[in-house]
Amino acid sequence: MNNLLLSRDGALATLTVNRPEKLNALNFDTLDELDGALRELEADAGVQVVVLTGAGDKAFVAGADIGELARQTPISGKEMARRGQRLFRRLELFPKPVVAAVNGFALGGGCELALACHLRLASENASFGLPEVSLGIIPGYGGTQRLARLVGSGRAIEMTLSAQRISAAEAYRIGLVNRVVPQASLLDETRQLVGTILKNGPVAVRLALEAIQRGLEMPLEAGLVLEANLFGLASTTEDMREGLGAFLEKRKPVFKNK
Ligand code: COA
Repeated sequence: MNNLLLSRDGALATLTVNRPEKLNALNFDTLDELDGALRELEADAGVQVVVLTGAGDKAFVAGADIGELARQTPISGKEMARRGQRLFRRLELFPKPVVAAVNGFALGGGCELALACHLRLASENASFGLPEVSLGIIPGYGGTQRLARLVGSGRAIEMTLSAQRISAAEAYRIGLVNRVVPQASLLDETRQLVGTILKNGPVAVRLALEAIQRGLEMPLEAGLVLEANLFGLASTTEDMREGLGAFLEKRKPVFKNK
């Protein structure tokens, strides 16, 4: 891959968008590489959590590649948006937790990328924004939909129509990020958070994530039925027997991801 780094540390895989000279802007090749890497990580049973970050200390991702956007026609623009949307949807519905470690600018497609992840940690120098209308376009990778769902329509409309950036502290205040940490410790803090997830039953983690993500798109009654079905499914697992047995035997569980 030319624009993406993939590293593994046990059950944690880290994907780093690696075009620091262009502030990690998402060109088409990077989107394709991200798509390929996600397919690989989805199929890899050894990977339980994915972290997504940007190379360098300035940007997470400074948006879609404006050079490519400038060449778009109505038809190619629509196809481009659908292609990016499909990829970000894959991320949103990824069966294992995906954590964005936002290490700087998260603008346009970069903010939308962070929004499609399940958890967001930001460094103190990070900033978030949807500057598209200042360029005469609109967010096209899910930003008009996911931001309002996460922080409410009033704040989403203000951010989108003003095209103004907000600081990491403000992003935390409005619930756009889970926590803000010094830049030097962003990856350590992310690993620490991931560690708290990895201690738990991996199958149960995936089922709970599925119940929340899918349930958010359903009426409450249907979401509750989904929850009950997945609760039932969890009780078929070796991990459930181990988790409950370990508690009763007053020892730490050893989960097998089965
Ligand atoms: N697409 C393509 N290239 C981008 C980019 C993007 N979204 N964002 C930054 N770059 C490139 C710049 O063109 C520059 O390249 P160059 O050195 O070849 O000229 C390089 O990255 C560094 O960016 P620069 O603008 O010089 O850094 P800065 O610190 O002065 O400003 C930003 C940082 C993020 C404020 C500014 O780059 C910016 O506004 N980027 C666009 C953000 C945006 O509108 N994203 C949404 C796109 S839909």
